Amino acid sequence: MTRTVTLWDKQFTIYLTHEQIQSRVQEIGQMINKDYEDRCPLFVAVLNGSFMFASDLLQHLCINCEISFVKLSSYQGTESTGSVQSLIGLEEDLQDRHVIVLEDIVDSGQTLTDLLPQFRKQSTASVRVASLIQKPEALEHNVTVNYLGFTIPNDFVVGYGLDYDGLGRNLRDIYKVAEA
Ligand code: IMP
Ligand code: MG
Repeated sequence: MTRTVTLWDKQFTIYLTHEQIQSRVQEIGQMINKDYEDRCPLFVAVLNGSFMFASDLLQHLCINCEISFVKLSSYQGTESTGSVQSLIGLEEDLQDRHVIVLEDIVDSGQTLTDLLPQFRKQSTASVRVASLIQKPEALEHNVTVNYLGFTIPNDFVVGYGLDYDGLGRNLRDIYKVAEA
């Protein structure tokens, strides 16, 4: 395992190893297997960052389930709503479905604050969130993560799907930015 990586102008040091990530993702899978037995949940993975988490998590599920991938596109709303992120790519009918949103990281909570109402207004049976990482110190909105991999301090991290300006998503471990 490489202890440090350089992406653009920044150095990053190892923070969570692939093995630590795998064992936590397996635990989350076991919780979801138990909670969603006979409920055939629909996972909605938010691209790009969640692709590795989604792929590994679903391999630990032994219940019937479906998965769909969405992207967020920012658009300038009215003055009062500011910049809102809207959902693109979701083709499934969400009515009466148990939806589990898959996120890479919850930072301020803005993304989920924009996203969750767009699911809930479609008469879903339930909407929950699974996120690999949350930074509680950075949270500015009232959002709840139902299945959480790791709680980390307010540091910038890359790897396992997470990027720094496009780079780093391919790394199998998670790295945090080194102090300047
Ligand atoms: P939020 O909307 O502020 O909760 O931020 C969520 C999004 O910001 C994530 O889906 C990431 O794309 C990005 N983000 C936040 N923190 C990090 C980080 O430490 N590394 C890489 N991306 C991050
Ligand atoms: Mg993201």
